[in-house]
Amino acid sequence: MGIGHTRWATHGKPSEENAHPHANASGTLMLVHNGIIENYQTLRHQLAARGYTFSSETDTEVVAHLIDAEYDGDLVQAVKRALRKVSGTFGLVVMHARHPEQLVAARRGSPMVLGVGNGEMLVASDVAAFLRLTDKVVYLEDDDVVSITRQEFVIDTLADERVERQAQQIEWQPDAVELNGYPHYMLKEIFEQPEAITNALRGRLLPGEGIANLGGLRSVLDRLKEAHHLVIVSCGTSYYAGLYGRYVFEKLTDLIVEVEVASEMRYRKTNIRPGSVVLAISQSGETADTIAAMREAGRKGALLLGLVNVVGSTISRITEAGVYNHAGPEIGVASTKIFTSQCCILVMMALLLGRCKHLSITDGMEIVAGLERLPEQIAAVLKQADYIRTIAEAYARYRNFLFIGRKYNYPIALEGALKLKEISYVHAEGCAAGEMKHGFIAMIDENFPTVCLATKDTTYEKTLSNMLEIKSRNGKIIAVATEGDEEIAHIADHVIYTPPNLDFLQPIPAAVALQLFAYYSAVARGCEIDQPRNLAKSVTVE
Ligand code: AGP
Repeated sequence: MGIGHTRWATHGKPSEENAHPHANASGTLMLVHNGIIENYQTLRHQLAARGYTFSSETDTEVVAHLIDAEYDGDLVQAVKRALRKVSGTFGLVVMHARHPEQLVAARRGSPMVLGVGNGEMLVASDVAAFLRLTDKVVYLEDDDVVSITRQEFVIDTLADERVERQAQQIEWQPDAVELNGYPHYMLKEIFEQPEAITNALRGRLLPGEGIANLGGLRSVLDRLKEAHHLVIVSCGTSYYAGLYGRYVFEKLTDLIVEVEVASEMRYRKTNIRPGSVVLAISQSGETADTIAAMREAGRKGALLLGLVNVVGSTISRITEAGVYNHAGPEIGVASTKIFTSQCCILVMMALLLGRCKHLSITDGMEIVAGLERLPEQIAAVLKQADYIRTIAEAYARYRNFLFIGRKYNYPIALEGALKLKEISYVHAEGCAAGEMKHGFIAMIDENFPTVCLATKDTTYEKTLSNMLEIKSRNGKIIAVATEGDEEIAHIADHVIYTPPNLDFLQPIPAAVALQLFAYYSAVARGCEIDQPRNLAKSVTVE
């Protein structure tokens, strides 16, 4: 029996004193906690007045003492009584020397799943943590308190009611969490993209009808057809997928589309009202800001949808309908295969709604054919990995990068910059190519290279002009362009070619080229790849 926690430093610096597990004074009770105890200062003062002393700056240690103060021989009841005094979020696991065969776990707001193994029980904040040991999972709900022994589990609510939750079988294969010969999960996941896209498309396209068939939206399709207002809400890479989705929805449907950063939307007055559709995009399905924004949207009467990778995650459960990525677990902190999968699914959603309205069958058939070409087109980009590595190595000494793109390529530029900065710690900014002259271009000189997304679309000529402006300021250029474009090679210092497709689909393989560039840049700099400093895979706190 054991507990552990790779800690995200919310209170106090990352130090041994502040590291989990935290204990009561005698060391008989230990716990790990993910989340934030909001009233920890008040509780700390109350406990201090009763003689408790603290050895860390964390909010978590307060809970260890609080349970100790409530303990009278029954660990479950002590945990419940203590947690009733707590406000904030927690996924926590407690062990006690006098209960050597028992763990007590509880959640509110932070993810927690129970794995039912063969003669063993596992509890974690993410199924990927125990996928090697079991594929039977119980998804715990807010305010569940579970008492676990080797053979069984019993779930009560904090209000002391017994609840039954069935174990579910998860689809992910155990080897999905192995490196399978790759040096890093990020590289493995980049190379899994042809398969991830195939899985996203599988059974969801009707080529003869030029339409997508998304089973997860069937129950709400009539309401979707009547909707005029779509709000996409997400964070980080999922937000950039949402930005890409807006351009595609605007092209293929008549919806008014807004894209919101979840942490901003949750505190804003918005236009969301009954009849609005709010779509959360989230790999983990556990991002605290996205969950909170969705709860706000639900209060305003919107139809809540999810585009989520982790089956059974909180967002998949608080939304009325949605679509899963079916991309398998993503372990590297930098999101790669899920980004391209999200983009493809957003195209399918827009295609479905567009075809239910004005979009013609011939246009629909062309889009279906374009989507079906993506796995092999991504594979073609992956074949250039060595070439992209040489470019990344050639630029490894630069400390600043600009990423530019227009229209469908603009979100890809933002995502390319995010990938580079989060794993290689160099300064990288994305901007709409047309915005360059409104400020960004001031930074350009021979030490400030630009990555230009310049695949062939209606804005191509304009992007080319921007590249000339960069050249005339001695800026180096790495271009991502459509195969066969020879003109661009006269302007750019390096060109990565991606295969031709519909204008709004070409950015998807282009994103893969930028993922490889970021990956090899970070490797060349000797950076930690899968767990970059200061970042967590699932951001389950605000
Ligand atoms: C992307 O590389 C980052 N790990 C991060 O921006 C991430 O996309 C964001 O935290 C959102 O996560 P989610 O998709 O699980 O909600």
